[in-house]
Amino acid sequence: MLYHIYVLIRLNDRMMNLGQIIDVKGIVEKRKEALKLKIDKLNDRNIVPKLAVILASFDEASKIYVGKKKRLCEEFKILQEEYIYDENVTEDELLNLIDKLNNDDTVDGILIQLPLFKHLDEKKILNYIKPTKDVDGFHPVNLGNLVAGSKGIVSCTPKGIITILEDIGEDIKGKNAVVIGRSVIVGKSIAHLLLNKDATVTICHSKTKNLEYYTKNADILVVAVGIPKFIKSDIIKEGSVVIDVGINRVDGKVVGDVDTEDVLEKVKYVTSVPGGVGITTVLSLIENVADVASLR
Ligand code: GUN
Repeated sequence: MLYHIYVLIRLNDRMMNLGQIIDVKGIVEKRKEALKLKIDKLNDRNIVPKLAVILASFDEASKIYVGKKKRLCEEFKILQEEYIYDENVTEDELLNLIDKLNNDDTVDGILIQLPLFKHLDEKKILNYIKPTKDVDGFHPVNLGNLVAGSKGIVSCTPKGIITILEDIGEDIKGKNAVVIGRSVIVGKSIAHLLLNKDATVTICHSKTKNLEYYTKNADILVVAVGIPKFIKSDIIKEGSVVIDVGINRVDGKVVGDVDTEDVLEKVKYVTSVPGGVGITTVLSLIENVADVASLR
């Protein structure tokens, strides 16, 4: 009898202590309202922002992302030009196009969907974009500004993650933030954004020894490794905030890098996949385009 009461109390405790899945859709809706106002103001000044999108690959996921970006542009009445190439495209052709777009005053942002066909030099092509039109924030000038803590265009996924953390009221200052993954697009950029907000930041990656030593001390854990359900409850800190950047396709379903159900009993907050970071990334892009256009 006493044992049953004990079990019931423990079960109750656990139910009371369950973490929360962050309502990223709700956050996005709020940001959309602010963005609509910003774009209305631009329209009042006779400015209609324009984004040029370049797709030079047969990557299926890229086609889906480009489609999502296009739909959001339509929703916000942002003009969009699409440049779609097959495998015969040359580096010179792309550089000439970028040159033309760099010098076109009606184009605010240029986005090159990655990855590119293997024969194209990704870095060389990305670096050719005028930094002030680099709405992805991948250009070394924008990355340098990020490292220096100066103003610049911030890449979309990291920008989205910061807005999520701010919206849930997470005080980043002084927190132990651990980022797993060292890509320029996500890992390195979010690490610097968190550092600029006074977190103590550790970047872990595939060669990190004793990963759980770091993750168990992480108040904020950002996971971008590309391994389905890689993070389980046994290696995270109680009461932490876990941000899942993974998008993995398993048996026709999209799953993240975090085992959401498993960690829920231990976290304070966790993002889900789908319906998490991904939906903030596209919105951050449109925000970047609007910000560039507001400087016209
Ligand atoms: N490929 C995967 N993620 C991204 C992104 O955020 N921007 C671009 N341009 N390409 C990508």
